[in-house]
Amino acid sequence: MNRKYRKTVIAGNWKMNKLPSEIRNFAEEFRTLIPRAKWCDIVVCTPAVMIPAAVRAFKEGKVAVGGQDMSAHPSGAYTGEVAGAQLVDAGAKYVIIGHSERRQYHGETDEMVNAKVLAALGSKLIPIVCVGESLETRELELTLDLVTYQVKRALSGVAPEQMRKVIIAYEPIWAIGTGKTATAEQAGEVCTAIRAVVRAVYGARIARSVTIQYGGSMNAANAEELLAQPDIDGGLIGGASLKPEELAKIVLAANQE
Ligand code: 13P
Repeated sequence: MNRKYRKTVIAGNWKMNKLPSEIRNFAEEFRTLIPRAKWCDIVVCTPAVMIPAAVRAFKEGKVAVGGQDMSAHPSGAYTGEVAGAQLVDAGAKYVIIGHSERRQYHGETDEMVNAKVLAALGSKLIPIVCVGESLETRELELTLDLVTYQVKRALSGVAPEQMRKVIIAYEPIWAIGTGKTATAEQAGEVCTAIRAVVRAVYGARIARSVTIQYGGSMNAANAEELLAQPDIDGGLIGGASLKPEELAKIVLAANQE
């Protein structure tokens, strides 16, 4: 983390979990666990249909709500899709773009991810842009090449003034939902490389202001060590974010001096 130059953002990705009553219970318990003074932003990304319930439940806490995907199109004949303006109307401030589960199970390409990033920014949503390698890519020692490529492609056409609003999440696919976390050094190395890509394209001032998260089996036990890396400015947390006490502990880890 480096709070002098950029925000620390702890975001839960609830994936396809929780009904409104469960969201209310979570929010009530979570509120009691989080101290008033905090130095990080907290976000919970829910299925689109649950956004209004989450916004209501978290109204009194300082928890923002995000979507998990959106259409690259502003409106029209795209059955089943959700537009950025609709997420905003529902109360979302953030949206996850290009999660590996979207890339893997829904055929999202780098080109589609780029179109969605531009659409999210156009809708005034903060995109949390996910990149990350498979185990095979890591074993071939191609991680930095692949992630560099993914970041460049995802950000193609993003104007410098928009770049300050973008969050990048490094999520190694082999660490998602597996209980296998990248070591702090592995995660830190890739996040530093991601900042270098942003620096090469947008310059040092913008690069140092961009929040870069780590995601992949992040939990209360490993958060502090991961967040101690200078280029890891937060987390995108799946399983552990479903439990209020776990997410609260990660937030507390992000609040260490
Ligand atoms: P886990 O924290 O469950 O590994 O999920 C990470 C993730 O995919 C967050 O987007």
